[in-house]
Amino acid sequence: MKKILITGGAGYIGSHTAVELINAGFDPIVLDDLSNSDEKVLDRLEEISGRKLTFYKGDCNDRILLDQISFEHELAGVIHFAAFKAVGESTQFPLKYYKNNLGSLLVLLEFMKDQGIKDLVFSSSCTVYGQPDQLPVTESTPRKEAESPYGNTKKVCEDILVDYVKSKPGIRVISLRYFNPVGAHPSSKIGELPLGVPNNLVPYITQTAAGIRKKLTVFGDDYDTPDGTCIRDFIHVMDLADAHVKAFSFLNHQEMDYYDVFNVGTGKGNTVLEVIQAFEKVNDLKLNYEIGPRREGDIEKIWADTKKINEELGWYSKYSLEDSMRDSWNWQKTLGN
Ligand code: NAD
Ligand code: WQD
Repeated sequence: MKKILITGGAGYIGSHTAVELINAGFDPIVLDDLSNSDEKVLDRLEEISGRKLTFYKGDCNDRILLDQISFEHELAGVIHFAAFKAVGESTQFPLKYYKNNLGSLLVLLEFMKDQGIKDLVFSSSCTVYGQPDQLPVTESTPRKEAESPYGNTKKVCEDILVDYVKSKPGIRVISLRYFNPVGAHPSSKIGELPLGVPNNLVPYITQTAAGIRKKLTVFGDDYDTPDGTCIRDFIHVMDLADAHVKAFSFLNHQEMDYYDVFNVGTGKGNTVLEVIQAFEKVNDLKLNYEIGPRREGDIEKIWADTKKINEELGWYSKYSLEDSMRDSWNWQKTLGN
């Protein structure tokens, strides 16, 4: 069984990817400092997969620890999820974001070079597109100036990877640009664990439905969209997890010094009100919400062109918005209120 180091593997997307990697016959080795996750996730992964995962609690900036892991396991590659991701916090503490998000990539690349590890999948984001001039966005749509230090870390990490691969170090890399990840594992054993008041739409919806928040505010209904609310491409986290399995397997068949980027979305945009309606309908409940002013820095509309990932990786999204809303709510119910 090929062993893959998953940095940030106890987090939201990493934990779901670990499940899908096991289902595909890989052996994920999880490295996470638990700065934004809970060790219980490892027990849940064991319940879902029926086997114990190898887990290292530590920082992926720690080169000594990385070398120890590589000494103990023959690694076929790395999927690098670990990063800080709170957009607002990144404007307050930019150095914290640059240090962790850029620093960890640099340490990992040097580690991979020294240990002869060839394959890397990197977590990028649709945030690199800003508000695109044309929709849907393809991978060659020009990236815009980043809206936040967080967004900039993703842009700079992509640039680092491009420059590094050009220098012919003998590696193969894919950056996946995720659109808006939502949903949870259908077993409701793992899902998103937002700390404090959520910034993202779907955790805010589920916490409002659970009575943790009084009311959801819809940020603006005067945008140039069919119902006036913003449009996003909401991708189920299980589909996203599957994209990593496909990307990793694909890398294995490429020549050395390969680099490419792929959008990971459904290819369909939904408005914020459509998300609320889907949530209410599939879960048969009413959500307390009101229309409020626009949120500063919000993109009006964005959704992915998925032709490239469909054709080259053979990946297609399978889950609907309704599936996402059902699974998000089932997961929230396990967390209580
Ligand atoms: P998450 O916070 O749930 O998971 C990240 C994990 O990394 C956490 O478990 C955290 O404890 C860990 N971590 C952070 N820094 C670490 C370090 N230095 N060493 C070891 N572990 C560390 O986030 P997520 O939503 O699963 O996101 C995963 C990746 O995808 C991130 O790189 C994020 O920027 C990117 N991304 C997320 C979204 C989103 O909306 N969730 C969208 C686009 C891209
Ligand atoms: C979605 C829509 C809000 C909350 C963020 C990051 C981005 C990327 C993806 C990592 C917007 C509206 C939200 C609420 C609302 N992450 N909304 N009321 O803004 O697309 O992007 O996640 O790379 O970097 O910025 O996601 O979930 O915050 O918002 O009306 O209480 O929901 O205005 O239109 P966003 P989001």
